[in-house]
Amino acid sequence: MNAPGMLFPHSKAARPLAVEVLLAAHSARLAPAWGRHWPGVHPWPLFSALGPVGALPTAPGLARAFTAMVLGGWDLARAGDLGEVSALVVSELATNVVQLATGSDGSPRYQAGGRLTQLWLRLMSDRVLLQVEVWDDLPASAGVPALRRPAAEEEHGRGLAIVDELSHSWGCDQVPGLPAKSVWALLKAR
Ligand SMILES: Nc1ncnc2c1ncn2[C@@H]1O[C@H](COP(=O)(O)OP(=O)(O)OP(=O)(O)O)[C@@H](O)[C@H]1O
Ligand SMILES: [Mg+2]
Repeated sequence: MNAPGMLFPHSKAARPLAVEVLLAAHSARLAPAWGRHWPGVHPWPLFSALGPVGALPTAPGLARAFTAMVLGGWDLARAGDLGEVSALVVSELATNVVQLATGSDGSPRYQAGGRLTQLWLRLMSDRVLLQVEVWDDLPASAGVPALRRPAAEEEHGRGLAIVDELSHSWGCDQVPGLPAKSVWALLKAR
């Protein structure tokens, strides 16, 4: 786990992904086209990240606790309802990865070579907006996030609708040449 404010990623295990993300984003010249949301690049004054974390049922709780700790460190935890909203958004995004990485019997859906799916959480802010990103390395066959409109009696299909409702904007980035994608949401910090 990184301390709040440290550059992503701090752990050696995660470093290759970050380096690849930065290089891919720069070489694809993505940054200028994305306005405030710059995939893989963080011009934000406040930045912190967690991961890699195995996409197991414990991951959403860990992501929530990390978010609360970081926002507390940035003195943003009590900015309006940012504490509650960020916890909910982080939870929904991380839970989606865990669900897709879990088989119908509740055991992990291991990837090639017996590897667990991994996720990363990145938080960045300029004190006006908080950008939350949950990265995953799910196989392409898992698909991409899709806003659903479930019927009233359906139990699932509301997570991204909640993110849509609570965020200023959200989306999914796939960095060319990188076997990972991020689902991000921009939240108002004040
Ligand atoms: N990281 C992701 N990678 C690939 N597909 C995703 C990802 N996140 C979400 N999705 C897809 O988007 C769909 C909608 O997600 P959403 O969170 O709205 O509903 P849900 O997870 O099916 O149900 P609920 O969140 O209400 O339990 C998911 O069913 C999944 O197919
Ligand atoms: Mg969901």
